[in-house]
Amino acid sequence: MCAYVFQSPGKIIYGENSVNMVGEQTEKYGRKVMIITGRYSSKKSGALDKITDALRAKKLDFIVFDKIESDPGVDTVRQGVKIAREKGIEVIVALGGGSTLDASKAISIVTENGGDIVDYESKIPDMEGIPIIAVPTTAGTGSEVSKFSVITDTERKIKMLISSDFLIPKVAVLDPELTMTMSQGVTAATGMDAFTHAIEAYISKAAQPMSDIYAVKAMRIISSNLSKAVLKGDDIEARKNMLIGQMYAGLAFSNSSTALVHSMSRPIGAYYGVAHGLANALLLTEVMKFNRAACQEKFRNIARAVGENVDGKSVRESSYMAVESVKNIFLDTGLPTRLRDVGVDKENFKVMAEDALKSKTTELNPRKPDVKQLVEIYEGIY
Ligand SMILES: [Fe+2]
Repeated sequence: MCAYVFQSPGKIIYGENSVNMVGEQTEKYGRKVMIITGRYSSKKSGALDKITDALRAKKLDFIVFDKIESDPGVDTVRQGVKIAREKGIEVIVALGGGSTLDASKAISIVTENGGDIVDYESKIPDMEGIPIIAVPTTAGTGSEVSKFSVITDTERKIKMLISSDFLIPKVAVLDPELTMTMSQGVTAATGMDAFTHAIEAYISKAAQPMSDIYAVKAMRIISSNLSKAVLKGDDIEARKNMLIGQMYAGLAFSNSSTALVHSMSRPIGAYYGVAHGLANALLLTEVMKFNRAACQEKFRNIARAVGENVDGKSVRESSYMAVESVKNIFLDTGLPTRLRDVGVDKENFKVMAEDALKSKTTELNPRKPDVKQLVEIYEGIY
């Protein structure tokens, strides 16, 4: 008998115009607010104005820290911590994509627990960080509901995976209107990231009954809405479905784990700056081929979840159908399909494979790889 734990934010608010509720949610945690966001997109899209309006309506005292880059680095986190301490920040409103949400979580934890962000690669924080109200503007990372944060250590060229229950935001506010302005490429890449979360959470060795429910539901929703959201960005139904689908995927992997795709995509990002979702998208089918034989029953269920009719097919046949179907969903997004198309060269494959092998998420992959096999996977998509 083993016990399972399933965790999520205390509150998940979902629906059109839910961004207007950010003020009332924020004031429950304090009056000195730090809005953390990226440099451009939340200003250009008007999302930042919606947040500041909601905070002003509750007469909250706020500052804006708008320095988050994609793949946030340790220096940005250090800068955010310094400001949060100097200003006595009581609550954070994190507005943006996965990079902003992850950086906000890191700033929250270090501000309250002390030390430096690099310490938390191996150390578990002792106490809660600054409470976070997470407001995603992309539909992919699920970071608004997860216990993970990925921060890039630029000196060591690695993406640190930081994990703690204290990283789960207090409140997640999911307003599909905020995702309407995502470009086609960002919609595709972040959507494939979410699809990868669902699949990996389901096949991970850490999968559990409750995470499976969310993972399968996420696969179903994402597989039937991703190409619609990519090809017709003003399709509000597709946008709504993708936002909820990626949130389900976030709940799934936060309570299970990701696996080999994520282990192998982090070095691609760290060495070549390829966006996380795109790196996952490039790897997903090839890693599924590697894993298929180790979990054929689960692959049959994946095939069913993504809409394939597996009736009358053997487990083996239907497991291959899962790989083929996921590949077609990826091709429909129009994303690049080869590493060489996104500026990656072969030179670092061995060291990238060694980095990936050391990753915590590789231990939870259903099939144990070695360096040679990981190099072959990179070569397979070169
Ligand atoms: Fe991811």
